[in-house]
Amino acid sequence: MSLAQKLMGGHGGHTDPSGATDDAGGLIVRPRLYEGCAGLCFLGRRKSTYDRIVAAAKIGPGDRVLDIGCGTGYLTRRAALATGPTGRVVGVDPSEPVIAYARRESPQWCEFHVTGGDQVDEPDGAFDAAVSSLALHHIPPADRAIVLREMFRLVRPGGRLVIADFRPPRNRLAGHLVGGMTGHAMQHNPIEELPGWIAEAGFTVTGRADLRPMMSYVAADRP
Ligand SMILES: C[S@@+](CC[C@H](N)C(=O)[O-])C[C@H]1O[C@@H](n2cnc3c(N)ncnc32)[C@H](O)[C@@H]1O
Repeated sequence: MSLAQKLMGGHGGHTDPSGATDDAGGLIVRPRLYEGCAGLCFLGRRKSTYDRIVAAAKIGPGDRVLDIGCGTGYLTRRAALATGPTGRVVGVDPSEPVIAYARRESPQWCEFHVTGGDQVDEPDGAFDAAVSSLALHHIPPADRAIVLREMFRLVRPGGRLVIADFRPPRNRLAGHLVGGMTGHAMQHNPIEELPGWIAEAGFTVTGRADLRPMMSYVAADRP
């Protein structure tokens, strides 16, 4: 059983025709284990990595921010530090256990809702910025365009989008090792396709960068 399957309580994910199980569609249900693993995997760089996502989304005091697939709320809390208490930071995730954890750990101006990224109960243009980290590869491929269009609806004109996801190792052997630990979807993460999908949703892509040790992000503006 891969680490990804353990984080999802030994279920979740899809089985493709080859019999390989991936974690697309899987929900994280073990928040403490997830936090412990994330701390180790980022090699001491988790805070600085997530703060770069917050900076790329140009999040500042008073901003209204949406975090899709927020999990335990780590990025939500980094964003909330940047908005301060005059801001509003909303995290959504379909997994009840991670949302319960995020609610316990986060400041008052963070709100959390148990829902998928395809249907967020907020009005059009409700947010200055939308962010997402390590979540897109969990969303089944057929739903990714729907989630990106929902983010487009929710960000105000002139607002920002930053999506960060896992960057599989370029070295083939390292890729197989990481895939064995984490699961099929992370081994085959289509990060290269992300700028095209974001543009198709209506955003203007403004930049992309690697976040060491193992993520990339794409930044965009809503025209
Ligand atoms: C690897 S975790 C990342 C959590 C957090 N964003 C972080 O950076 O630590 C991926 C999250 O995506 C969530 N997820 C799965 N399907 C989703 C969907 N359709 N919409 C939104 N989030 C989803 C999972 O429940 C899980 O909490």
